[in-house]
Amino acid sequence: MFNSRIKIKHLLLQEPSNQEVTVMGWVRSFRNNQFIALNDGSTNSNLQVVAELGSFDDLLLKRITISAALKITGTVIPSPGKGQKLELKAASIEILGDSDAEKYPLQPKKHSLEFLREIAHLRFRTNTFGAVFRVRHSLAFAIHQFFNERGFVYLHTPIITASDAEGAGEMFRVTTLPPQNPPVTPDGAINFKEDFFGRATNLTVSGQLEGELGATALGEIYTFGPTFRAENSNTPRHLAEFWMIEPEMAFCDLEDNMNLAEDFIKYIIRYAMKHNEEDLTFLAQRLADEEKQLPQDKRSELGLLQKLDFVLNNHFERITYTEAIDILLQSPAYKKKKFQYDVKWGIDMQSEHERYLVEKHFKKPVIVTDYPKDIKAFYMRQNDDGKTVAAMDILAPGIGEIVGGSQREERMDKLEQRMKDMHVPSDELWWYLDTRRFGTVPHAGFGLGFERMVQFVTGMSNIRDTIAFPRTPGSAEF
Ligand code: 4AD
Ligand code: MG
Repeated sequence: MFNSRIKIKHLLLQEPSNQEVTVMGWVRSFRNNQFIALNDGSTNSNLQVVAELGSFDDLLLKRITISAALKITGTVIPSPGKGQKLELKAASIEILGDSDAEKYPLQPKKHSLEFLREIAHLRFRTNTFGAVFRVRHSLAFAIHQFFNERGFVYLHTPIITASDAEGAGEMFRVTTLPPQNPPVTPDGAINFKEDFFGRATNLTVSGQLEGELGATALGEIYTFGPTFRAENSNTPRHLAEFWMIEPEMAFCDLEDNMNLAEDFIKYIIRYAMKHNEEDLTFLAQRLADEEKQLPQDKRSELGLLQKLDFVLNNHFERITYTEAIDILLQSPAYKKKKFQYDVKWGIDMQSEHERYLVEKHFKKPVIVTDYPKDIKAFYMRQNDDGKTVAAMDILAPGIGEIVGGSQREERMDKLEQRMKDMHVPSDELWWYLDTRRFGTVPHAGFGLGFERMVQFVTGMSNIRDTIAFPRTPGSAEF
C-alpha cells in the first residue's frame, strides 16, 4: 500500500511526542537547505519539515525545489520556532516528482488574481485558491445536508433540453449537424429534424420546469447542477457556465419560499464558518489587504467574518418592488443624479440600484418581492393587482442578486393566457402544463447562483475566482 500518509491538517492537531509519521505533499519553500514548508492541500497551513544539516545527500537536497512532490517520514517534535507548535524531523525524504524551479510559473511572491487566472491549472497551489476551493466544497456539502435534513429529494434534471425555461433566448445550441453544409428545409432554414435528437436542442438555462414536475409528485425536490447562459455579460458576476441550486416545493407560497431561502443561506454560511474557520480567517485577511489599496469610501465597513456574522444574526429586509422604487426615487443618489440608469416603476433594476438598496440604505440582505409582470418569466404567479407577480429576488451586499424565485402560476387559464401574451409555445410545453391539468397545487421555488454564493462567503470580488475553470465570453481555456 502506497498511501500510508497522515494528512497535514490532522497532524497539526496532534501533540508532538516523537511519534513516527509519513506525510506527502508539495514544497512551498525550502530555506537554508534545511527547512521545508510542505503543503498537501488538506489545510492552508504548511508543515515545517526539518532536514538536519549533514543528514541528507546534496544531490537529494538540490531536488527539493518549489512544488516538487515529496514523501517524508520522520518524527514529530515540538517546534522551537515561532508560529507552529510542532515540526517534523525528517528521517527519510523521497522525491515523488521533481519540479523545475526555473520554469515553475508560481514564485513565492504575491501574484495578481488576473495572472493566476491565466494559469488556473496551477492556482489551486496558492493559499488563496486552496482556501476558496475548500470553502466551495463545504458550501456544496452543506447544501446537500440542508435539503437532506428537510426531506427534499435531489433531482437530476437534464442538461440538454429543448425548452427555454427562462424565456430569455440566450442559449447554447447543442447539435451534431455539420456546420459547413447543414441540411435545410425547403424555405432555407436549418432542418433540425435531421439533428441528433430530431429537434433543436440547447444546454439548459435552468432545471426549474423539470423541477416542478418532480415537486408536484415528490413534494419537495432540489436540483444542484451546471446551467448555461450565452449572454454576452463581461462582468465580475456573470459566468457562461455556472452552478445553480433550485429547490421546488409543492404546497408552498411566496412567504414559505422566502423563509426557506433565508434559512438556507444562513445554514450554509454557518456551516462554512464552523468548518472552514482557518480558510475564512485567511480570506478575510486577504480581502482586508486588497481593500487597503482602495480609497476609504470604497472599502467595506465590515470585515469578511463580521459581515458573515452580521448576516447570520439579522433578518433579511423584505420589501416590495414598488417600495424599492420609492426608496430609490427618494434617495440622495437619485436626487444628485448619481445613478447612471433611470429609475421609474417598471424598470428592471440595474446593479447600481440593487447595490444602493443593500449597501447604502438597508446595509443588509434584502428580499424584493412583487415585481412588474412584464420583466419576469411567464411561470410566475400573477397577483390580483393585474400588474405584478409573486416573485422574489434576494440581493446581497457586494453581489447584488444572489437568488431569484417565485410562487408559480398554478391556475391553468391564467398560465395559458400569460404564455400566449409572452409568445411562449404552449404546445412544446404540453408536459409542463399537464401538472396544472392533473391535481395542480400552489407551489414555489427559487434558484441560488452557487458561484455568487461562494463569492459572498469568500469575499472574492470576481466570480471567475470562485469556479475552477471559468467559462466567459471569449474564454474557455483548460
Ligand atoms: O434569476 P435566475 O435567472 O432564475 C432562474 O433561473 C429561475 N429558474 C430560478 C428558479 O426560480 N428556480 O437565476 C437564478 C440565480 C440568480 O439569482 C443568480 O444568482 C444566478 O442564478 N445567475 C448567475 N450566476 C452566474 N452567472 C450568470 N450568468 C448567472 N445568471 C444567473
Ligand atoms: Mg433573476
